[in-house]
Amino acid sequence: MQIADSIVAITGAGRGLGRAMAEYLAERGARLALIDLNEEDLQASVAACEKHGAETRSYVINVAKEDEVDSGFARIATDFGGLQVLVNNAGIMRDGMLLKFKDGKVADRMSLSQWQSVIDVNLTGVFLCGRAAAGIMAEGGKGGVIVNISSLSRAGNMGQTNYSASKAGVAAMTVTWARELARYGIRAAAIAPGFINTDMVAQMRPEILESLVKQVPLRRLGEQDEIASTVAFILENDFVSGRVIDIDGGARI
Ligand SMILES: NC(=O)c1ccc[n+]([C@@H]2O[C@H](COP(=O)([O-])OP(=O)(O)OC[C@H]3O[C@@H](n4cnc5c(N)ncnc54)[C@H](O)[C@@H]3O)[C@@H](O)[C@H]2O)c1
Repeated sequence: MQIADSIVAITGAGRGLGRAMAEYLAERGARLALIDLNEEDLQASVAACEKHGAETRSYVINVAKEDEVDSGFARIATDFGGLQVLVNNAGIMRDGMLLKFKDGKVADRMSLSQWQSVIDVNLTGVFLCGRAAAGIMAEGGKGGVIVNISSLSRAGNMGQTNYSASKAGVAAMTVTWARELARYGIRAAAIAPGFINTDMVAQMRPEILESLVKQVPLRRLGEQDEIASTVAFILENDFVSGRVIDIDGGARI
């Protein structure tokens, strides 16, 4: 697929990796539908993309809500005259241990709401947006590409029962979609970033961050453009499908 003139929807595009991907693709001539919960952040992303001369529109959509996703993607298809690419990037973390044990007793547990909120956005959100986008792409008859953002944590990580489970689910959905949707000319692939230099990582305590970097053979955080350029690689290489590409400085064993 050629990036120039492709119609690309990116979720969670108000900041962080989503904004970096939007700018990277804007520079290369994509037409962009930017999705987020936060209107103000979206406006800043739109302005950044427009600096590169890209046609860019913003959509306030909660990816975890079926009606908002279905009506929002229908609007995108009408506004742009179709859809060729979806990057399922919106994601949240609500970390905590499954159990905390004190004086021989369970003192705390990961709450159901802590579990559910992450599953709703990271897993159900990817399902809902993927389903809506695939429908538009299949009906358009010209195929397309879905890129899902998983994580190094999909292999399991301390304090991330909810997040790890959601990201493993995203990896499994990617393989399933590659198999189911190839008949409509739609490819699906995922990226599993390691520790990338973003706001999400900035929320971590410095000592935790330091210990994380020590686990990376390259001894540094990844840069946002190193993920954005992987999105571009997936779009441009028509033989990539059904795989999760780890971009983590060698952190995954
Ligand atoms: N930053 C990292 O090191 C890292 C590593 C591995 C994976 N990831 C994944 O990459 C993606 C982006 O991460 P980031 O660091 O840029 O995060 P971020 O928190 O900086 O940005 C996430 C964006 O998603 C939006 N969002 C959250 N919930 C939403 C919802 N329900 N509907 C619509 N938009 C919503 C937020 O408003 C925000 O703009 C996430 O899926 C994350 O899990 C990040």
